[in-house]
Amino acid sequence: MTDQAVQQEWVRMPAAAADGAACNASQYEAMYARSIEDADGFWAEQAARLDWFEKPTKVADWSFDPVDIKWFEDGKLNICHNAVDRHVDAGNGNRVALIFEPDDPEGEVRHITYAELQGEVVRMANSLKKLGVAKGDRVTIYMPMVPEGAFAMLACARIGAIHSVIFGGFSPDAIAGRVEDCESDWIVTADQGLRGSKKVPLKANVDAALEKVPAKGVLVVSHTGADVAMTEGRDHWYHEYSADVADECPCEPMNAEDPLFILYTSGSTGSPKGVVHTTGGYSVWTETTFRYVFDYRPGEIYWCTADIGWVTGHSYIVYGPLQNGATALMFEGVPNYPDHDRFWAVCEKHKVNIFYTAPTAIRALMREGEGHVAKHDLSSLRVMGSVGEPINPEAWRWYHETVGGGTVPIVDTWWQTETGGIMITTLPGAHDMKPGSAGKPFFGVCPQLVDNDGAVLEGATEGNLCITRSWPGQARTVYGDHDRFIQTYFSTYKGKYFTGDGCRRDKDGYYWITGRVDDVINVSGHRMGTAEVESALVLHAKVSEAAVVGYPHDIKGQGIYCYVTLNAGEEHSDELMGELRQWVRKEIGPIATPDHLHFTPALPKTRSGKIMRRILRKIAENDYGSLGDTSTLADPGIVDTLIDGRMNR
Ligand code: WT7
Repeated sequence: MTDQAVQQEWVRMPAAAADGAACNASQYEAMYARSIEDADGFWAEQAARLDWFEKPTKVADWSFDPVDIKWFEDGKLNICHNAVDRHVDAGNGNRVALIFEPDDPEGEVRHITYAELQGEVVRMANSLKKLGVAKGDRVTIYMPMVPEGAFAMLACARIGAIHSVIFGGFSPDAIAGRVEDCESDWIVTADQGLRGSKKVPLKANVDAALEKVPAKGVLVVSHTGADVAMTEGRDHWYHEYSADVADECPCEPMNAEDPLFILYTSGSTGSPKGVVHTTGGYSVWTETTFRYVFDYRPGEIYWCTADIGWVTGHSYIVYGPLQNGATALMFEGVPNYPDHDRFWAVCEKHKVNIFYTAPTAIRALMREGEGHVAKHDLSSLRVMGSVGEPINPEAWRWYHETVGGGTVPIVDTWWQTETGGIMITTLPGAHDMKPGSAGKPFFGVCPQLVDNDGAVLEGATEGNLCITRSWPGQARTVYGDHDRFIQTYFSTYKGKYFTGDGCRRDKDGYYWITGRVDDVINVSGHRMGTAEVESALVLHAKVSEAAVVGYPHDIKGQGIYCYVTLNAGEEHSDELMGELRQWVRKEIGPIATPDHLHFTPALPKTRSGKIMRRILRKIAENDYGSLGDTSTLADPGIVDTLIDGRMNR
């Protein structure tokens, strides 16, 4: 099918989906219009669903030039109160807040009610206080996908500490860099994690990180029961340390603009940035987006397969669902253990109604055949979501037809770590769908497409995706480096937030994200800065220079392609290739493992020494016909050498 034909293809929203939906088609139009024309009125109304210790009298107060963003600035609230205590106070303490499905399908499932969650969060909060953690302090959380990870996040929020969750797949060096950047004195971790029966040495990784940076205290949750090293005076087993803490801990009244958390994310240059989200706007944004996008109904079981180490886990495992009083499933394992039907087995076992996953998982499971899906009764599914990267229409259709039986609406949700929550999506009761398109802007979101010079493009068109108005869930700064925040997001196109994504808008006003237009690659829905992989490679003693680009990968969306030049006298070999792959894994973590290493005598550079990445991208894509102008290269001959190298692999 041509692009045009694909864009015309509608999949009608099932009529039943509109029955009792949080938002139907005409409501969407009216609510969207009001969210722009009377933004303050609209957001004041959404904010009123939350409990505030002091109600805000101001709603939006922002400017993108100069950059200054505030929402609900004189309000006081606590997101832990809204996610936990509020439901207990309302008499819903017996509702299940979290269901834990362990890695081992025979292992013990846990059902944690809101009342139990309150008890657990208070215990964790008082343990943090006992360690010496105070309001405003940064706490690093490096945990497996177990409920204690959520307890730790909520406990920080409860006492006003700022959490920085690090994905359990990151290396000791990555942990050390992040701990150092936000000067976090405290770490919550576990002995080990489990993924597909493999043990992840979390505590050992923390120990290795803490050889490089100091920490005052480490709380260790016993998960697998492994015997791990404990440093006297610094490390404490959580179950012992928490045994004598009080069973009450009030929620700290937080100013709406007090920081809630830091989450590190990769950009096109430099080390990962600590994106800062604040309390009030993020609370309202995650509560509202979860409510409308997933159309959650009381009693339903909701499952987001992300990890709490990513923003999806923050917003749509913990804060969005729990503020809505939902029952959220937390899954420790992986989609292909013990077999490729695990997702569907879990959906059947827990009668999951709302399922939210990533295109990379859908493509990987699609490849294993529909037999794995057919084995299970998936009739409980009512809404299905996708997030993390563009979903190709073929995978969309398989998800819709084979998993959803052709009757379940799909929400393809576009957003970013920096946006705090979902920005572009269809709503299940309101919109017809187009496979491969994220759809329409959420309430309050004003997307704009611009060309490379910043000229605004109207109508059906393609360009760089900017957002022209602030929304409550927007990140406020980069931790410790506000200039970098301004430079990264507001300087490419002055007065606008630039997403870094390319995007097409069709004649129906549907948005089609085409992928990153900067030096960021999206590997299995995880953002990776090419500069980070390059820095890791050049740290190796034999490597002289490295240039890293993305290329299309069937399962991962994009793969990591590394061009490497060696120091004089070094020979390339399969062995060195293996060594460099291991090296990058160790420096950053398994998600950064190079898919392709291409040894080359030189890189294509302009006379001023700038690497021409455009050429490297094309060659990695096996697209040699459209290399463009190569005459400005210092040595145009290098292009043929690179092409030879690519074709002979
Ligand atoms: C980048 C953000 C949002 C949570 C997970 C990733 C890409 C995300 C979609 C989608 C097309 C998408 C974009 C974006 N992306 N969702 N539905 N369709 N692309 O968060 O690590 O901050 O990455 O992921 O390129 O910029 P992140």
